[in-house]
Amino acid sequence: MVSSSQKILVTGGAGFIGTHTVVQLLKGGFHVSIIDNFDNSVMEAVHRVRELVGPQLSQNLDFTLGDLRNKDDLEKLFSKTKFDAVIHFAGLKAVGESVANPRRYFDNNLVGTINLYEVMAKYNCKKMVFSSSATVYGQPEKIPCVEDFKLQAMNPYGRTKLFLEEIARDIQIAEPEWRIILLRYFNPVGAHESGKLGEDPRGIPNNLMPYIQQVAVGRLPELNVYGHDYPTRDGSAIRDYIHVMDLADGHIAALRKLFTTENIGCTAYNLGTGRGTSVLEMVDAFEKASGKKIPLKLCPRRPGDATEVYASTEKAEKELGWTAKYGVEEMCRDQWNWAKNNPWGYSGKP
Ligand code: NAD
Ligand code: UFG
Repeated sequence: MVSSSQKILVTGGAGFIGTHTVVQLLKGGFHVSIIDNFDNSVMEAVHRVRELVGPQLSQNLDFTLGDLRNKDDLEKLFSKTKFDAVIHFAGLKAVGESVANPRRYFDNNLVGTINLYEVMAKYNCKKMVFSSSATVYGQPEKIPCVEDFKLQAMNPYGRTKLFLEEIARDIQIAEPEWRIILLRYFNPVGAHESGKLGEDPRGIPNNLMPYIQQVAVGRLPELNVYGHDYPTRDGSAIRDYIHVMDLADGHIAALRKLFTTENIGCTAYNLGTGRGTSVLEMVDAFEKASGKKIPLKLCPRRPGDATEVYASTEKAEKELGWTAKYGVEEMCRDQWNWAKNNPWGYSGKP
């Protein structure tokens, strides 16, 4: 049963997807405990979550500064609170960095997650929603990507997601009482409609939308468009961008599914819109939403990039009763609202 007092541990809850999901969890009546080591986030993001949900619901939110690689940090949390489920966002996600420093990725993503399973098992908390990624489809032979496609990783980051999916499947087979949902996100973008929460990457952004956003506010001079000779309608690569609030709601749907489905086993779902948008179409939509011109530099393809990736959304729709509500227009509107109110992110300074 799903009851309003259920306690959910959210690892990496101070991060981009985590903060948006925590807001929706609190509004949905759940009690939330965040653990984060601020490797890629700041306390201000947690303050903003509290501000958004108000003083009443904030009472249902705890924060612990801790690192998943340190089992004691997890032990301390689980020994004082009985969690009903875990949503596990904590991890590193920069593809380029993972190629340069794979050990950092294996340590953080693999060791951190293995510790989490150990402590969850010890305290008999066996319901998990795991942040996987469309990266596990590699360069898909066919599109849309369907959950039962052959999986393949293209870089160390992708390998951590693939290994962690396999680890989840093995654990669930060995101990059938586990209920695990693997959510494969496509390209999360946008921000909370209030303009108070959004993505705030450190350094030069790796991903398209944060980069466009920083060009729009004058932090970067132009956008490098990686590839203009792809066999697509305008020569640029195509992805399935999904509004972070839709993604957040996808986690609530997954959680409800875990609580209500005894035989869920270990099941993967795509979270995408099922629609592909090219890089140049995304730039165009952002220019319309912001009224800003984004200067472009056409560059060679980025190594390892696929031509076209988008999700089949049927399984999530049918089994989770979830479907994305927002289109590219709303994604750009909300991303711009966040950008113009927070041009330098949470810190407010260069
Ligand atoms: P993010 O970096 O904003 O959030 C991750 C959070 O985890 C950060 O707050 C970071 O400080 C924390 N963290 C990292 N290692 C930790 C550790 N060892 N102990 C405690 N906290 C730790 O990233 P995000 O975009 O919110 O992504 C969340 C999850 O979704 C990640 O697992 C990521 O791989 C996955 N994902 C993200 C995308 C994307 O494009 N944003 C796409 C697919 C999958
Ligand atoms: N792009 C540019 N210029 C930039 C950044 C990106 O042209 O400055 C292009 C890329 O070449 C690609 C598209 O914009 O064609 C999207 O690139 P992103 O880096 O934003 O996203 P990816 O699809 O490459 O990958 C992202 C995450 C992965 C994750 C994947 C699926 O970085 O970790 O989405 O969820 F696995």
